[in-house]
Amino acid sequence: MTKPKVSIVGAGRVGATTAQILAYRDICDIVIVNRTQETAEGIALDIMESAPIEGFDAKITGTRDYADITGSAIVIISAGAQRKEGMSREELLSTNASIVNYASSQIHQYAPGAIVIVLTNPLDAMVSLAKRVTEFPKKRIIGMAGILDSSRFASFVAKELNVSVDAVSAMVLGSHGDTMVPLIRYSSVSGIPLGELLAKDKIDSIIQRTKDGGAEIIKLESSSAFYAPASALVAMVESILLDKKNIFPCSAYLEGEYGINDLFIGVPVALGSNGIEKIIELKLNNDEMALFKASANKIRETVKGL
Ligand code: 2OP
Repeated sequence: MTKPKVSIVGAGRVGATTAQILAYRDICDIVIVNRTQETAEGIALDIMESAPIEGFDAKITGTRDYADITGSAIVIISAGAQRKEGMSREELLSTNASIVNYASSQIHQYAPGAIVIVLTNPLDAMVSLAKRVTEFPKKRIIGMAGILDSSRFASFVAKELNVSVDAVSAMVLGSHGDTMVPLIRYSSVSGIPLGELLAKDKIDSIIQRTKDGGAEIIKLESSSAFYAPASALVAMVESILLDKKNIFPCSAYLEGEYGINDLFIGVPVALGSNGIEKIIELKLNNDEMALFKASANKIRETVKGL
């Protein structure tokens, strides 16, 4: 039985790391699409040469020809400019809109049955553009963001409490930006509500560090994050290809859920072989809903610029 094909648009550090982790999981063949074919070919060959050591048989190819994404079960759009220190994700809008616009038009043409996962920033606007240009149904267009923000939040909580990350469950909704909404009431450590384990000032500082998570990495590495984003992408791909129906916060298109219409925003979704199998509506209290709506307004402002 041939493996499903996962195509990755963009041979940057996120795309390359995602290809590497996916290869190790050996659950799909991988096509890396890049403007310069040699870069994609080099990454594919380099990962392939680790196969005898890592023990995977996945096929990996690098190309500049979008026709090679034909038959993809999933196409990941990770291509685009990165933030520089001090920049907001929204400042990438015009540069990355043209990149996502073109990639989406090619996906529409060559992989009309694919599920699309977008990483490119500003995320909630870019995933909105991908839906507009691919004309795919909303269940097959997903933004990767909340899963990354929730992982950052959980990693900071685990470190602060000196417990295993396995014990920590975190939920960050809303935009993938400064107005993201970490939900303390829905975050716990082995079922124990976070508020019973950490003082409010400590929780507040973890919330702020999560909001600044991307910027902190850029300051340290002089490059946008790529290990944690790649791990987040792989977790989504795995849930889809293996039809796990795992629940992650992802940027999904709302049509009335949470009182929001015609907008992509981070909400809990179940990911399976159909893409977004369902959107889960949490019962937010007034304060949480106010933050969520403010986040939605921020996204709507950015999307207007498309
Ligand atoms: C981040 O927060 C790349 O936006 C992504 O690191």
